[in-house]
Amino acid sequence: MRFVVLTLFPDVVRAYAAAGVLGKAVERGEVEVEAVDIRDFTDDRYRSVDDDPFGGGAGMVMKPEPVARAIESAGRVGKRVMLTPSGRPFTQADAVEWAKLDSLLLLCGRYEGIDQRIRDDHVDDAVSIGDYVLSGGELGALVVLDATMRLLPGVLGNADSLEHESYNEGLLEHPHYTRPAEWRGVGVPEVLLSGHHARVAEWRRRESLRRTARLRPDLLKTASLTPQDQRFLLDLESGDQSEVS
Ligand code: ADE
Repeated sequence: MRFVVLTLFPDVVRAYAAAGVLGKAVERGEVEVEAVDIRDFTDDRYRSVDDDPFGGGAGMVMKPEPVARAIESAGRVGKRVMLTPSGRPFTQADAVEWAKLDSLLLLCGRYEGIDQRIRDDHVDDAVSIGDYVLSGGELGALVVLDATMRLLPGVLGNADSLEHESYNEGLLEHPHYTRPAEWRGVGVPEVLLSGHHARVAEWRRRESLRRTARLRPDLLKTASLTPQDQRFLLDLESGDQSEVS
């Protein structure tokens, strides 16, 4: 899959694209990351990309022309997405959809934002990665890129690790433990050492439900829950299942 990231800080994107799982996928040719410098599409001698806001006020606004040219330079892409704190929330469901595309363009804003005419007519979507304001869209673009590329077949190597992951079934993931079985005086849940696969699976499901109920009760409204899950959650509410986790 091809990712085109339009930014004023292409080095930040390139550095991230060279590391870890993504770096490996790039090396293998499964993922292509093009970091495009929006400043290369200016034509004044100061290479200026921003200007004062019409109507006055603090801060600067990114000019439409260099941004439009940068978008056009990418050629045909599956989708063009802008990163902005005023976008709709980016979710795992978006990553799943976008991973089906052959290419994705990610447009990063800086300053107070990009001229609205770009958002109106030159991109297909505008997303935010959370309810906080960053100094630019780069971290957002990397979040979208990472969440999307790791769903591509072959990128993670272990398809099973995707299956049970947080959000895949609409629940938070269960806790994980590794050796040693006792570490600094703290053990691991006995059931995980039992070798009893069905009991381990049941424990994990319950811990997922317990954690989700505690930290993200909003997710329970849309998660797919079995009658057994429902019963466990009711018991949890009434205090019958209130172990610490
Ligand atoms: N740019 C600045 N803040 C952002 C956010 N929260 N999400 C996406 N892009 C941004």
